[in-house]
Amino acid sequence: MPPNVLGHIGFSVAPWKRGNGYARQALNLMLGEARLQGLSYVELTVDPENIASQRVIAACDGVLIERFRKTAAYGFAESLRLRIELDH
Ligand SMILES: CC(C)(COP(=O)(O)OP(=O)(O)OC[C@H]1O[C@@H](n2cnc3c(N)ncnc32)[C@H](O)[C@@H]1OP(=O)(O)O)[C@@H](O)C(=O)NCCC(=O)NCCS
Repeated sequence: MPPNVLGHIGFSVAPWKRGNGYARQALNLMLGEARLQGLSYVELTVDPENIASQRVIAACDGVLIERFRKTAAYGFAESLRLRIELDH
């Protein structure tokens, strides 16, 4: 991916619809699409304080790869990189 693209998949749920399991369902559906495209894994990045997002990714078998600093364009903010392996 180009350096300005931090992950294969991003997600957001409208505030009034959160806490219903929709993000987890949506990410699972996207993993199916990624598999169909032939990807062997996807990577996602998440802010260390974003516990809700980390739980979504963990529920989809995401594993922490590294803690890193984003590029200057993102203010060198700290971030976590997680990977979800896709079985074929
Ligand atoms: C992150 C986000 C997408 C989660 O959406 P959601 O539909 O509420 O998530 P789900 O209902 O599928 O919940 C998934 C898990 O997060 C947990 N969770 C939800 N909101 C939480 C919160 N505010 N604090 C801690 N945990 C939270 C749920 O309990 C659940 O965990 P569990 O499966 O262990 O019980 C949503 O909060 C959001 O849109 N945030 C702003 C955008 C964003 O941060 N996107 C991700 C960028 S990496």
